[in-house]
Amino acid sequence: MPAEEPVPAANPLPTRTRTGPGRVNLIGDHTDYNQGLALPMAVGLGVTVAVTPADDDRVVVTSAAYPGERAVLPLVPDTDAVATLEPAWARLVAALVLLARPPTGLAVHVTATLPRGSGLSSSAALSVALADAFGVEGDSRSVAVLCREAEHRIGVPVGLLDPLVCAGGRAGNALRIDFATGATRDVPVPEAAEVVVVDSGIRRDLRSSAYATRVAECSAAEARIGPLGLAGPADVVALRDPLLRRRARHVVSECARVDVFASALATGDLVGAGAALDDSHRSLAVDFEVSTPELDELVGSLRGRPGVHGARVTGAGFGGCVIVLADPGALDPAGLGHGAWRVDAVDGSVTARERRGTHGPST
Ligand code: GLA
Repeated sequence: MPAEEPVPAANPLPTRTRTGPGRVNLIGDHTDYNQGLALPMAVGLGVTVAVTPADDDRVVVTSAAYPGERAVLPLVPDTDAVATLEPAWARLVAALVLLARPPTGLAVHVTATLPRGSGLSSSAALSVALADAFGVEGDSRSVAVLCREAEHRIGVPVGLLDPLVCAGGRAGNALRIDFATGATRDVPVPEAAEVVVVDSGIRRDLRSSAYATRVAECSAAEARIGPLGLAGPADVVALRDPLLRRRARHVVSECARVDVFASALATGDLVGAGAALDDSHRSLAVDFEVSTPELDELVGSLRGRPGVHGARVTGAGFGGCVIVLADPGALDPAGLGHGAWRVDAVDGSVTARERRGTHGPST
C-alpha cells in the first residue's frame, strides 16, 4: 500500500480580500452635511485590503503606498488616541478596528488603483473595504454610518455621501441621495453618456483643507434659516451676512441642479445635463470658494472640446479631480496630459456582498 500523502492542513487563517470602490460625484457637492441632495456613482478605481487573521492581539498594517513602513495597532485601540496615532496613514484603519471590533489580531495590507487625496473618495473606499473584510454586516446605510463615524473619530467632519455610495452604489447607476430623508434612488447612466475623470494633480487633505471651515459656515447659516438643503431662494436672501449668503446660495442652487441633471440624464439630454455641471462648477468656485485657479483652468480647457457637454470639480474641491460629461469616445484620456480615466458605475461594497450572498461566495 503506497504511503499516504500527508494531507495539507486546511489553512486555518485564510486571507480575505475585499475592494471598496471610489466614487465620482456627478453633481451635488457640499450638500450632504446640509440635508441636501447629491448624485454620485461608485467607480471601478478602488482600494483593496487583504486581511489575514493572526494569533496575537495586534493589527499590523502595511500599505503599498508606504513601502517599508508598518503600523502596529492594538486590537482594542484607545478611543482618544486614534486621531493622533502615528503613522497618520494608519489612523483610519485604527478607527475602523475600534468600531468594527474584529475578534482576532490581523495583518492588513492595503493596495489601491485610486489616487489618494484626489476627490475620488479614497478614504471611504478604504473604510468600506475594511468594514467588509472585518465582517461588518447590515445594509449600506448602517455600514456608511459606521464609516463616517470612523472619519469623525480621526477628526475629519465628513458627511455620508462617500461611504453611502461606496457601499450602496449599483452597477450602471448613479445614486440619488436625499440626505434629509435618507431616501436613495438608482438613476441609470445612459450608454450615450461618457464620464471622464481628470486628475488635476493637486493633492489636498480634508484634515487640513478649508473643508471644516465650510462645514462651520454652513452650520452658522443653518442656525439662522434652518438646514440649507431644505431652504429656498427666499431664505437665502434673508441672510444678512454676505459670506453666509453665498455659501447658502451654493447649497440651495446645487440641490436644485441635482434634479435638473438627473432629469436631463433620464431623457438623454446631455446638453442640459452638461449645462448643470457647468453651473455647478461656477457655483462651487464663486459662491462656495472651493475651486482653485488651476482647477478653473482645467475645467475651462476641457469644456471647449468637441463632444464635451460640461465639466466641474468633483468632491470637496481645493484640488483633486474634475469630471467631464462627454459623448462616447469624444475624449481620449491618454491624450489629456493628466491622469485621466473613463469611469463606469460599479457596485458598492455592500451591493457586491449582497450579490455574493445571492450567487455564492467569491474571494
Ligand atoms: C468630501 C466629503 C463628503 C462631501 C464632499 C463634498 O468628499 O467626504 O462628505 O461633503 O466632500 O460634496
